[in-house]
Amino acid sequence: MGFIDRQGLIRYLREQFQINWFGHHGIAHWARVRANGLMLARETGANTLVVELFAWLHDARRVSEHEDEGHGGRGATLGHRLNGHFFEATDLEMDLLMHACRHHSDGWMTDDVTVMTCWDADRLDLGRVGMVPEPRYLCTKAARRKSSLQKANNRALSWKQRFDATHQVQLGQMLQD
Ligand SMILES: [Fe+2]
Ligand SMILES: [Fe+2]
Repeated sequence: MGFIDRQGLIRYLREQFQINWFGHHGIAHWARVRANGLMLARETGANTLVVELFAWLHDARRVSEHEDEGHGGRGATLGHRLNGHFFEATDLEMDLLMHACRHHSDGWMTDDVTVMTCWDADRLDLGRVGMVPEPRYLCTKAARRKSSLQKANNRALSWKQRFDATHQVQLGQMLQD
């Protein structure tokens, strides 16, 4: 795998991040997308540098937790700017990364195997917003397998439980004040 200064990159991304760092599209989601992607890559043979960079960048330029037109494209543009600073990716890797970021929320099903692995890694984390990832919306056989679905979904659900519990406590406190 190519060079990546993971800590430096994440610190940089946090500083420019516009929405909740600990929310549905923040660092914990990115880390799970990375874990999902690397799990799938063992089988799909996807480029692991691209998979990891996708995880950190695809939602990094969101400005809203909801519908956020163009956020993938903005993530791609940021990735392009950061190449050579926090990581070193070849032209081919950058093409794949930018394409994967740009179209990750367009619902596409077929593409290069690295790109499909990125999209599946993201889709496998839908459990965090209370949705169950459906095999028919996943691009790779590796992601559609029951064991992958379960592993990813358990990761997402254990985060959701903690996230929801924290918000219950906060809401309770607000109602008391
Ligand atoms: Fe996204
Ligand atoms: Fe995402």
